[in-house]
Amino acid sequence: MPSRFRHGVASFEPCHDGVLLWTLVEGGGPLRWAVASDEDFRRVVADGDVTADPASRTAAVDVHGLSPGTTYWYRFEAGDERSPVGRARTLPAAGAQRLRIAATCCARYAQEEFGVYGALAAADVDLVVHLGDYIYEDDKGDKRPTEPDRTLVSLDDYRARHSLHRRDPHLQALHAAHSVVSVWDDHDIADNAWRDGAKSHDPDEHGPWADRKAAAIQAHHEFLPKRLADPADPATPWRRLDAGDLVSVLVTETRAHRDEPVGADRDADVDDPARTILGPEQRDWLLEQACDPTPAWLVLVSGTVVSELEFPAPDAVDGAMPEKYAVKDGLARNSDQWDGYPVERTALAAAMARRGAPTLVLSGDIHSAWAVEGLRDSEGRATAVELVCPPAATTPAGRLLPPGVGFTLGAAMTKAIKGARWVDLDHYGFVVVDIEREGATATWWWVDPEDHTSAEPGQTWRIAGGERPRLVEIPKRRSRWRIAAAAVMATALVALVVRRLRDARPIRLPLVGDH
Ligand SMILES: [Fe+2]
Repeated sequence: MPSRFRHGVASFEPCHDGVLLWTLVEGGGPLRWAVASDEDFRRVVADGDVTADPASRTAAVDVHGLSPGTTYWYRFEAGDERSPVGRARTLPAAGAQRLRIAATCCARYAQEEFGVYGALAAADVDLVVHLGDYIYEDDKGDKRPTEPDRTLVSLDDYRARHSLHRRDPHLQALHAAHSVVSVWDDHDIADNAWRDGAKSHDPDEHGPWADRKAAAIQAHHEFLPKRLADPADPATPWRRLDAGDLVSVLVTETRAHRDEPVGADRDADVDDPARTILGPEQRDWLLEQACDPTPAWLVLVSGTVVSELEFPAPDAVDGAMPEKYAVKDGLARNSDQWDGYPVERTALAAAMARRGAPTLVLSGDIHSAWAVEGLRDSEGRATAVELVCPPAATTPAGRLLPPGVGFTLGAAMTKAIKGARWVDLDHYGFVVVDIEREGATATWWWVDPEDHTSAEPGQTWRIAGGERPRLVEIPKRRSRWRIAAAAVMATALVALVVRRLRDARPIRLPLVGDH
């Protein structure tokens, strides 16, 4: 008989003394849960009862009374059946000296295997942030069959797609290994979603937008529970998590409350001061949080890219640009991200500049990896460093181009876009940022999605702290075996030369291309 816990277990929203524990039990009903300070559950530190929601079959328990910066193990029981064991980690309290955060995003089940998630499960980090596109609402891709095998519209549809993802062994391993903080992006609801619609939403075919948006958000919250701004409204996921006075993580959403992107409505004025990507409630909260000088580091989590990635282009090419781009006043902008809401971004940059301490931005969505000094204030100076996460399981942007073009284009974009220090369009992977008081180190890991053991560091940047954080490139180190191999080759060559000289015969070294 298949396990009633075939969706595994997960933990979310760690704070200094607690964490949310999650499971899904087939058939629903009452459950017991336990948290222990050892993997074998000899020292149980908290336990209790919970009943799974009859409709979603999910259960979430908000556990408190734990110790800060500590690893715990947890499990559920239904009757005499036990769930797999999960590992959770609380955030550190005041005085913390180090926090390692991994970020991941963009996984279309039908398009790729989830090996990136499997690699991330094995990474040594304190917290994982999922930046959205956890599911895709569409039916694109033919590598793996999906459930349901159609575009998601109803609550049951969204629940079924989440359920499918959570039965994937790599994603299940990630959730069992790390506590996760999540935010949705557009595909968790619908492509290019905004407050009152989405590019691909047709009310005649899909029904009322408000119903579809509410269904997607409800299912997201059932499978990825959050500490909401308004506990009665799952559409309010903006929140702050404190790792002592070292790091405060500000989680934002940029899809459910925003005005329509101007790329879809070219009559709208991108510079209209009334335009909002956050909605008034979230904006008031974020502008207050972003200038708080208390934490040594702020980490702003955004599904969409926040920094200026616009680049010069003649107005005449407006309409001929790639999807989501609009051209105005000689600048091409992807108006689906914060570039389409510049007035609100300037207000955010001003708040960050007032803080007087460094801010990092973690974002995803654009299926490529970036290191950017961005969010410029009114004097044009960068107020933050943004780290853009590569896709876990959607085709990287450069792989949609002829071979080699992605590399060249990435280099060209680094030159053309002010503040962009590095771009990679070609890799699947994740990013880890290791934050200490004086500075941080960001490493992008590349992973073959079909081989979760293939993870290797692709690029590392140091982020110097201070009022205005800066990116400092760390050159890629040559691996030890390559250095050792070069030493062996050199020794062999010297030995060969010495022997040939001793034998007094002419030396013929192999030429490149010799066989
Ligand atoms: Fe995506």
